[in-house]
Amino acid sequence: MQYAHITGWGKAVPPSSLTNDDLATFMETSDEWIKSRTGISKRHISHVNTSVLASVAAKHALAAAGIDGSELDLIILASASPDTLIPNIASTVQANVGATCGAFDINAACSGFLYGIGLASSLIKSGQNKKVLVIGAERLSFYLDWSRRETAVLFGDGAGAVVLEAREEEGGVLGYELNNDPDGREILKSSFGSQIDRLDASSLDFYIQFNGQEIFKRAIQGMGSLSAKVLEKCNVDKDDVDWVIPHQANERIIDTLVSRMKIPKERAIVNIANYGNTSAATIPIAICDALDKGLIKPGQTILSCAFGAGLTSAALLFKW
Ligand code: ACO
Repeated sequence: MQYAHITGWGKAVPPSSLTNDDLATFMETSDEWIKSRTGISKRHISHVNTSVLASVAAKHALAAAGIDGSELDLIILASASPDTLIPNIASTVQANVGATCGAFDINAACSGFLYGIGLASSLIKSGQNKKVLVIGAERLSFYLDWSRRETAVLFGDGAGAVVLEAREEEGGVLGYELNNDPDGREILKSSFGSQIDRLDASSLDFYIQFNGQEIFKRAIQGMGSLSAKVLEKCNVDKDDVDWVIPHQANERIIDTLVSRMKIPKERAIVNIANYGNTSAATIPIAICDALDKGLIKPGQTILSCAFGAGLTSAALLFKW
């Protein structure tokens, strides 16, 4: 029997950042509003494409795992903001890390990284693959209308990656649940690909648009119900969860989620203050930050959950 363990992790955060006060210099907003409504203090803005951020994170993860890119069996890259639709940008990462294996992108928006880990763990447990690189990477700043304060203040750029390897030792990914609610397709979208004149940047459809309050409600419902489902499936009690690593869209969403699940807030990893919502990258960046701080210890049980456009949702349980 093979188990899928995370053996390497890494992140790439662009060096330049915009604080809330910076934003207030060119739009009607304030540090007080953004912090109190979202928990965000600053976000990083990339001058390079998503595939570059993804490649840097991937190299860190491979180095941490102590393996060479040529040893990989598969690369899965989750992004809602790839630099090209075809070829996929997993192939750019593949070229940059010197891998010769399957490589593809997935678009499950903010849930994409957990979709990727779930899939990778199943491939490893089935014996199909031994070493899989999973990346979440975004350059959402490119898809923002910087004159619309309702959306512009929320997002940021970044990437995170993990290496999953087959091990005989019990543990690693214990289980996962994926869902999609197509009824909510219209409440969060960017219709870039369907524009007749794609160069017409004044078209609002180009930019990310959403119904914030509707998403707020559905995010809590979606992440809560899938988390309960994966805990039940793996026969793990919520009191035995050491850390919750949720998608970082809004600190108030996280607060409500853990309070409804009756899990103490101290057990939630929250780093949205430093990055904003980096969509598919929030969870791998949070994993890296938690490990860098020495919070996650061997043997601990971690519940991760996400929600995004689609409306996708995902929950994953793993042992460190
Ligand atoms: N600065 C100052 N004022 C603002 C800003 C801003 N950046 N944005 C909106 N406002 C104003 C509004 O115009 C409104 O003013 P009014 O009362 O005079 O009409 C007021 O603030 C309240 O606006 P609401 O939209 O009601 O604020 P709310 O408390 O719902 O917070 C927010 C909005 C932060 C978007 C919240 O709904 C949210 O986080 N939703 C979910 C997150 C989300 O949508 N993420 C998108 C990606 S999906 C994902 O990652 C899961």
